Amino acid sequence: MIRSVTIIGAGNIAVHLVRKLKQMELQKLTVYGRKADVSGYQKDIQPFLSNDPNTLEKKSDLVIIAVNDDNISMVAGQIKDYGQIIVHTSGSTSINVLEQFRHFGVMYPLQTFSVDRDLDWDKIPLFIEASDDYTRENISKFANAFTESIHYKDSEERKKLHISAVFVSNFVNHMVVQGKELADSQGVDFSLLMPLIYETVNKSFSMDPLKAQTGPALRNDIVTLEKHFEALKKYPDKLKLYKILSESILKKGKNNINEKL
Ligand SMILES: NC(=O)c1ccc[n+]([C@@H]2O[C@H](COP(=O)([O-])OP(=O)(O)OC[C@H]3O[C@@H](n4cnc5c(N)ncnc54)[C@H](OP(=O)(O)O)[C@@H]3O)[C@@H](O)[C@H]2O)c1
Repeated sequence: MIRSVTIIGAGNIAVHLVRKLKQMELQKLTVYGRKADVSGYQKDIQPFLSNDPNTLEKKSDLVIIAVNDDNISMVAGQIKDYGQIIVHTSGSTSINVLEQFRHFGVMYPLQTFSVDRDLDWDKIPLFIEASDDYTRENISKFANAFTESIHYKDSEERKKLHISAVFVSNFVNHMVVQGKELADSQGVDFSLLMPLIYETVNKSFSMDPLKAQTGPALRNDIVTLEKHFEALKKYPDKLKLYKILSESILKKGKNNINEKL
């Protein structure tokens, strides 16, 4: 049974884990943040924070490594094996980076977490992988307190999910960033675009997103596309993106028509 938890890393995921863990009856919760000045950390995690790696509680029943993917292995190398369970939270990092421990696993929540947003864990799909039955049983019980949507996937399957997640979340948001920058730089009120963003995402839940596509590239409206290329000449990065995406939409549109013939 997991009664004490240590989180290493104090970023987006750590903050959301702490918000939930505070509601659970844990004997001990500690978080490791490496910045010297604690005031820079989100208030939710400050009461549990240690900045000194030597005082960090690594003997907790569960240690969650919640650092950026590229540092997981290095952080794991600094943890002594007391028989505790060590997990990471990454979609595309193999469980094998923790294989030096007796009990290890992965708890990957398929959601986008930002410190400044509140999220309800109840429905977030959580993907578990474990080194052995003992670990699987313990992290499953622990995860049950977070969400009712628990799934078991190995590292390969989890990576496939994560790549799609990058498209449907990170890239979509990046497009909103680009659109907002463009609106701002041209004195257009960004809030006027919000109903459109809302409907674009919403309709993909109730219809095939391929069929939901609209816009000048899909319609093959070359004159309109050329007008947009011209207007975007002063924003070379945006022009590049516009062309790549329009080409991809054009191809899909043509394939779609060919399939119907
Ligand atoms: N955010 C999401 O939406 C999301 C969703 C699912 C899974 N994940 C996974 O969760 C993990 C963390 O992501 P995140 O979004 O929370 O990242 P993040 O906001 O960038 O936070 C990472 C934290 O790790 C700390 N850190 C990095 N190297 C460290 C080290 N050597 N020792 C101690 N702390 C270290 C960073 O400290 P500094 O601030 O000092 O750099 C920062 O506090 C990643 O594996 C990611 O793939 C994230």
